[in-house]
Amino acid sequence: MGFGFVEVGTVTPKAQPGNPKPRMFRLPEADALINRLGFNNDGLDAFIANVQRSRFRAQGRLLGLNIGKNAATPIERATDDYLACLDGVYPHADYVTVNISSPNTRNLRALQSDEALDALLSAVAERREALAAQHGRRVPLFVKIAPDLDAAQVDVIAATLRRHGMDGVIATNTTIVRDKVKGLRHADEAGGLSGAPVLEASNRVIAQLRAALGAGYPIIGVGGILSADDALSKLRAGADVVQIYTGLIYRGPALVNEVARAFARRP
Ligand SMILES: Cc1cc2nc3c(=O)[nH]c(=O)nc-3n(C[C@H](O)[C@H](O)[C@H](O)COP(=O)(O)O)c2cc1C
Repeated sequence: MGFGFVEVGTVTPKAQPGNPKPRMFRLPEADALINRLGFNNDGLDAFIANVQRSRFRAQGRLLGLNIGKNAATPIERATDDYLACLDGVYPHADYVTVNISSPNTRNLRALQSDEALDALLSAVAERREALAAQHGRRVPLFVKIAPDLDAAQVDVIAATLRRHGMDGVIATNTTIVRDKVKGLRHADEAGGLSGAPVLEASNRVIAQLRAALGAGYPIIGVGGILSADDALSKLRAGADVVQIYTGLIYRGPALVNEVARAFARRP
């Protein structure tokens, strides 16, 4: 399709069914989706087997693996789940994403707050050192954050990422805010809103991150890219590269080409 890299997940240590259906809704008038899938997945071992079977990296392509926690794991034990996933995916990833921003796993986003984030990233960074020694390869770690953060929260997150030697940040996940879709069918469904209505909030977080982190710190921009112009707006906000999810559903594979061409034409 023309993607420069692919990220898969979120994977959890054990298989889990996710939330009851229906759990995904289209809001076509808004070029948006609401999902509350809840990390439905077959678990870490099956995930790794799939990644290996795909031979994606063997073909020289870049693959990010995104890790999370099981719904049944109490939030106080979240670190155990992230470390178990990190151990498993480490040798199979070009980078690993620590996802602490899904709205569909209870209390997950609380891991973005000061002490919780500090404790989690401290443990993850320490384990990465051990894994780097063991495998002879230092795999970059990215942290994926929500759009629903104020400037002060973003500043604290930025400082914490730096303090623990995280290699980059992914901004953003879906939003729990509904102001841009008020009155539309499905607008009041619980879950994360993605697509066009999240563009502005995502770009705001990217701009705040860039201001806090300075030039040269890798930022992956995601949220609300439905056109080449949207993708360019993310670079202007401060992102280095972008990801697309909902846009692919509404615009199809042509969007990838459109964005790649616009990036190539950039002065
Ligand atoms: C159906 C669906 C499932 C998603 N599942 C995950 C997930 O498992 N882990 C994750 O980090 N983000 C997940 N996301 C969030 C997207 O990766 C992305 O951050 C967000 O949707 C904003 O980008 P978009 O507007 O291009 O979709 C999901 C989004 C959608 C629409």
